[in-house]
Amino acid sequence: MNAPASRESSALRICVIGGGNMGGAIVQRWLECTPQHEYRIIGRATRPDWLTKGATWFPHTNPGPALDGADLVMLAVKPAQAAEVAEQTRNSLPPEALLVSVLAGVRLGRLAELFGRGERVYRCMPNTPFRLGCGISVLCGPALSPPDQKQAQARSAIQTLYALGGAVLWADEGQMDFLTAALGSSPAFAYRFAGALALCIEARGFDAEQARTLAAAVVNGAGAMLMQTEAPADVLIRQVASPNGATQRGLELLSDGGYDELITQAVAAAEQRSAELGRE
Ligand SMILES: NC(=O)c1ccc[n+]([C@@H]2O[C@H](COP(=O)([O-])OP(=O)(O)OC[C@H]3O[C@@H](n4cnc5c(N)ncnc54)[C@H](OP(=O)(O)O)[C@@H]3O)[C@@H](O)[C@H]2O)c1
Repeated sequence: MNAPASRESSALRICVIGGGNMGGAIVQRWLECTPQHEYRIIGRATRPDWLTKGATWFPHTNPGPALDGADLVMLAVKPAQAAEVAEQTRNSLPPEALLVSVLAGVRLGRLAELFGRGERVYRCMPNTPFRLGCGISVLCGPALSPPDQKQAQARSAIQTLYALGGAVLWADEGQMDFLTAALGSSPAFAYRFAGALALCIEARGFDAEQARTLAAAVVNGAGAMLMQTEAPADVLIRQVASPNGATQRGLELLSDGGYDELITQAVAAAEQRSAELGRE
């Protein structure tokens, strides 16, 4: 099957089931960073434009050729589609392939049951900034006790691939719903702030594109300060807000409106929904 002629011996055959927002972001990053691997995407309706950059597309109605000889299979469909996809692919999954699911809420035990495999099942909770190499991926898999060389090798291979998208954190599965909310969902909370700020700017007569660019610059600058100075948020806040100054007045309004509590509640709501998704 369509293996690139220049494939090196260390190259992996990676099959991604579902090339949507998250699966697509990950594969695009991998295509840029590790083009020596072979990428096969199993998809349903439409063939995304970015596929022209080097992955091969296979229809979900005939997944066998895409899974043939795969070293790693990433499951990136919606949680509710997991059972249907397992039905379509279970018999074609190579026994030694690592299965990595990015599905919110769907437990390792459930995945093992659906796909008829035990040890070589892992979960990853990435976020979409993976596309630019500044994401966070939380990983979990079978326990490493007693130490097992095969599992250690599997973890190392997975870690290497997901580190291409940014930071990587191994966690216990019991933390996954919380981390899904706190790290996977929260880019959307930050975009919501940027969107609201853009609306304020637009309301004062700037055009929509200018407003978007200005709001993005603010969020980007604040994010870069957090990352590069390594200072806690309250220290950076004090550098902007003088006592009794203009910023302080705005911050007081946010506090009075329960800003911190609202963020806590938003994370808790997303965590609860993540747990529900795994049961649907
Ligand atoms: N988006 C995020 O920020 C994020 C973050 C972390 C984790 N996740 C997880 O990532 C998963 C995907 O989310 P998403 O936002 O990427 O959703 P999405 O954009 O809807 O992508 C899902 C993809 O799966 C495809 N698909 C559906 N049924 C299929 C089948 N039987 N075989 C192969 N492909 C099939 C869909 O194709 P069609 O469009 O043609 O139906 C679509 O391209 C979810 O489980 C979510 O929990 C997402």
